[in-house]
Amino acid sequence: MLVRAFAPAKLILFGEHFVVYGADALAAAIDRYVTVEVSDYEKGALAIVSEDIPLLGVELEVRGNRISASYEAEESLIYVRKVLEHLTGKYDIPESGFRIRIKSDVPISAGLGSSAATCVATIAALKAYFGIESDTDETRKDAREVERAVQGAASPIDTAVSSYGGFIHVSGEDVLRIRSDSDCSGTGDEIGGKGGKEKRKEERRDEEEISMMIAISHAFRASALQLKTKNIIERVRERKERFPSVFSYLLNAASEITRAGVEALRENDIKTLGTLFFINHGLLESIGVVTKNLSAFVSAARRAGATGAKVTGAGGLDEMDVGSVLVLSPAEKRACIEGALIAEGAEVMHVRAGVSGLRVEVEE
Ligand code: MEV
Repeated sequence: MLVRAFAPAKLILFGEHFVVYGADALAAAIDRYVTVEVSDYEKGALAIVSEDIPLLGVELEVRGNRISASYEAEESLIYVRKVLEHLTGKYDIPESGFRIRIKSDVPISAGLGSSAATCVATIAALKAYFGIESDTDETRKDAREVERAVQGAASPIDTAVSSYGGFIHVSGEDVLRIRSDSDCSGTGDEIGGKGGKEKRKEERRDEEEISMMIAISHAFRASALQLKTKNIIERVRERKERFPSVFSYLLNAASEITRAGVEALRENDIKTLGTLFFINHGLLESIGVVTKNLSAFVSAARRAGATGAKVTGAGGLDEMDVGSVLVLSPAEKRACIEGALIAEGAEVMHVRAGVSGLRVEVEE
């Protein structure tokens, strides 16, 4: 038997970091996917093969309690190991006798949610392989618990977007689909929140996807990749604790910006979305997650005529200069903006935002 699960990466449009402390946030699924395959394997043995996340070509072979891979390789698969721990603790599934293969076209440590997509796809594939009845909402909740266990803190946003696709507005624990082409085939379709499945809210719009540009900073040391998000979240927490009243104003501003962004998205008002990107970027500067490179990308995009630009996702730290900038641009300025970003050292990616969510295929 072979099960294949596909989960999209994400872009946070508004509210990253502040969402961890309860602010509203808005995110979109993008047309980059993590694919996880689960298939039969030798009895008593477990193989985990990662073709490209988070390190190239990692293979992990577990027999009994012996792991035949370097410590670094094992660390790199921490999300997958935690998924296994979570699922074997919660459901009656064996710890071996299968093989997990992970493929990804999501750049790692770029704030595009490769870890959330990995968790969602791995959980969905394992559940389908072991015939565990589960809907999308439960899978996303499982994935969030795993993210929390690894990162120390995680809002519902990354795992919700990878699960449902489309555009997702998170408000506290409530998860609201703003507009989506996702049909979540075969995986259920609940939107969760404090009230769980009863609290079902959904809207659909005709116009679905928006083209965006992502400028990625790759000035990182490979050894600094692990648990990057955890480190950045901790640094933000330190700033919050040092300046609690300032942080509370920023938190409120992040929620207001997100709500205005949700309205702009509903109206398809790209110009307002762009202006709000610049405003949100200012907040991210204030909490220290905008590195010199990322700041230079936003300035370059702005000079070249972008409608809006901001850091997206976790961002970076000056000693760990990774992360991504999200750019909205008029079609006629796209080439010029791309040139300006490349001149600043960015790797540029064009994406469609608002694509389908988790999909699972089973081959008997
Ligand atoms: C990471 O993609 C987004 C953060 O806000 C963390 C989270 O929401 O869990 C930095």
